[in-house]
Amino acid sequence: MTPATARAQAALTDLHPPADDILDDALTGLSRTPKRLPSKYFYDAQGSRLFDAITRQPEYYLTRVEQALLDDYLPAIANAIGGGAHVVEYGSGSGHKTWRLLEGLRAPVAYTPVEISRATLLASTGRLADAFPAIQMLPVCADFTRPVPLPVPSRRPQRTLVFFPGSTLGNFTHDEAVGILAAMRQVMGADGRALIGIDLQKDPALIEAAYNDAAGVTAAFTLNLLARLNREIGSDFDLAGFRHHAIYVRERSRIETFLVSQRVQDVQVAGHRFHFDRGEAMLVEYSHKYSDGGFATLAAAAGLAVADARNDPRDWFGLRLLRPA
Ligand code: TRP
Repeated sequence: MTPATARAQAALTDLHPPADDILDDALTGLSRTPKRLPSKYFYDAQGSRLFDAITRQPEYYLTRVEQALLDDYLPAIANAIGGGAHVVEYGSGSGHKTWRLLEGLRAPVAYTPVEISRATLLASTGRLADAFPAIQMLPVCADFTRPVPLPVPSRRPQRTLVFFPGSTLGNFTHDEAVGILAAMRQVMGADGRALIGIDLQKDPALIEAAYNDAAGVTAAFTLNLLARLNREIGSDFDLAGFRHHAIYVRERSRIETFLVSQRVQDVQVAGHRFHFDRGEAMLVEYSHKYSDGGFATLAAAAGLAVADARNDPRDWFGLRLLRPA
């Protein structure tokens, strides 16, 4: 452990979901028709590494386009936010985008990454602590889809900025997304803001390619979910018995990612047996793609208004600055 990682650990608020939750969630999902697995469990240490590799695949335009857009937009964001902010990030991952944001804002007082993968959280917070000694690092290991009590910075912030990039919001159903945005509105307070990255509707071929990269990294990422469940809850998924399948469903404006059973098989999970037919598709993830109007309506349902909006020149990806309505 590096000294920076050790310091990050000392400041850590650990609300890590216990293995029991993973088992309950897996059993619940596997009992549904069609079967589904909870996608938040993609992000163990290996899953976080694979996701990082996805963001570097040529077909996965989202990260590159969002990063360039953020760089262009940062001076305007810094003006809109002002000095002394408490930056709160949901699903901070490797922290590459955070780096640019913390650099671009005016003297933020504190940074609170909320991340489900403890190893990823400690490593990235450690790196950020070294680079930004004036910013108090307050990492929280937690599932941000549940209410997360935020640590209080020792210097009083001027306002709270919630950062939610990567179109992670799109990985939730409409109702879940409204819930997450409404919780953000609580966290940010009357004067707060949220900066949200959203992937926009475009040629479905471009979108589908992003979730079916030629190198097979996304396939390895989705299959890693089964490996993780085998390790942590003792299930016996045969990884060779399932195949990654991601398609864009126009009517619902979303990528639907499945693991498809390659043969008739049974899987055991904690004494329960689940039967799979050949070709049976188990849902593992949605990635919704937004229109301008559709996103504004979603935000409004959570009591938030769009204060500012920017898209990249091709309208592939957008950043939205939200405020309480
Ligand atoms: N937020 C990312 C997205 O929707 C997560 C992601 C990328 C993902 N590739 C994936 C989730 C493949 C499941 C499967 O783009």
